[in-house]
Amino acid sequence: MKKTADQMLVIFGASGDLTARKLVPALFNLHLSNNLPDNFVVLGVSRSDMTDKAFRKKVVLESTYLTEKIKDAGPERVKDFADKFFYEDLGSSYDTDYQRLRNRIEDLNDMLKTAGNIIYYLSTPPTLYETIAKNLADVKLNTQNNGWKRLIVEKPFGYSLETARELNIGLQQYFNESQIYRIDHYLGKETVQNLLVTRFANSIFEPLWNRNYINHVEITNAESVGVEKRGGYYDKSGALRDMFQNHLLQIVSLVVMEPPIGDAPEEIRNEKVKALKSLRIIRDEKTLHENTIRAQYVASEVNGKKIKGYREEEGVDANSTTETYAAIKFFVDNWRWHGVPFYVRTAKRMPTKVTEVVIHFKSPHHQIFSDAGMSGKDNKLIIRIQPDEGVLIKFGVKVPGQGFKVERANLDFYYSSLTETHVMQAYERLLLDAMQGDATLYARADEVEAAWEFVDPILEYWENGKDIRMYGYAAGVWGPENADDLIDGIGYWRNPGENLADDPGYCVIC
Ligand code: BG6
Repeated sequence: MKKTADQMLVIFGASGDLTARKLVPALFNLHLSNNLPDNFVVLGVSRSDMTDKAFRKKVVLESTYLTEKIKDAGPERVKDFADKFFYEDLGSSYDTDYQRLRNRIEDLNDMLKTAGNIIYYLSTPPTLYETIAKNLADVKLNTQNNGWKRLIVEKPFGYSLETARELNIGLQQYFNESQIYRIDHYLGKETVQNLLVTRFANSIFEPLWNRNYINHVEITNAESVGVEKRGGYYDKSGALRDMFQNHLLQIVSLVVMEPPIGDAPEEIRNEKVKALKSLRIIRDEKTLHENTIRAQYVASEVNGKKIKGYREEEGVDANSTTETYAAIKFFVDNWRWHGVPFYVRTAKRMPTKVTEVVIHFKSPHHQIFSDAGMSGKDNKLIIRIQPDEGVLIKFGVKVPGQGFKVERANLDFYYSSLTETHVMQAYERLLLDAMQGDATLYARADEVEAAWEFVDPILEYWENGKDIRMYGYAAGVWGPENADDLIDGIGYWRNPGENLADDPGYCVIC
């Protein structure tokens, strides 16, 4: 186990939901697995008037996100953990003089010996990122002459290429790029990281990983929930910005990238950027029209329960044209992937929650078995990101009996079979990495900008293009009626079930 240096975690926006829901449970797991440094302080900062004691109660002792874990851990370990938490009220605005905050940080640092090392975690609206960075710099809380300083920011990293660039430039005035950690929680998922290992630690897949053997690549990200309580945010964002620009293009970059020369963070990140830059940017209206589909869920009834349509959700404009379903077909302009179509979709209010990558291999060049029963049944490699995490290979086997009838069989691996291993949650893994200064699983500025470069023309077309349509789909089905048009000529989407080995089309809705 790598040793983690003594340090302080300063969370801006500490009274918000993300802190209690994700960050504190991740820290609690790190505490229970003895992964926190000996001297460790969490300083919550926000605009609510709260004492240290009230903050501890809110995010630890009485947090509904920790109820079960607290019961299991026992009072001593819980107290140990809660005692690491402190709180500082910034007053009415984040744009203020941070001298008092600096004094508080220095006092805690002296008292609890955190070696001057600080991570600033910005769990605030992105419009405040630059303001906070500037105010920290004004009182020299960004200097590294006495301990390192790191800045973690949450998505969205911009709203478009232009705003992403502005944000990057804005932050880089006060922190070096090497100090900035852009968190994408999909990169914290074991199964997403396993894409690298599947490809580069095995000699059986990589030789086939190119246009000679792969027919097409399909990536599905489906959620059964709607926009929940986030209508206000989501209506200004939509599926392409919320999921595709970041999480899904991260997955794409890991599927597409060339082998890095080693596992050093910059080697891997360099290859990912190169991969994103090789995506063919779709600019002409005809291709945008034919290769992109956007849609919105409409009201329906699932198992007798009425489900609201998107436009009826709280915080959503009654005439909204924000997409809750996005499907894109695109190509990758490089030697490896020339001519191989990629189909990527993401949506809310689908029949089930699932994320998976499907590599469809080409059929054998010459079909020997006339009674194969395999027509339309290509070999597939399915990498399941969630749930029922695992890897499945679909291949042909002989049906016992006369002749050569071929059927398809499954070879599978499930993460759940690794019972001995504690699989870290995404935030747990990513926080620990940042605490140890490992930025492999964080997005770099040029990576984020390359992703926006691809997404921007699609958004622009969806906003202003001619003949642009917004399709509807009943909440609880696999997207609009024309969803398969994109894949026309090749087949249809593999609509995955709850379990990895389920055949498409079957799933449990509730
Ligand atoms: C977030 C999006 O980044 O990812 C949400 O803003 C989405 O809209 C969530 O629900 C999905 O994450 P996961 O890990 O549940 O697939």
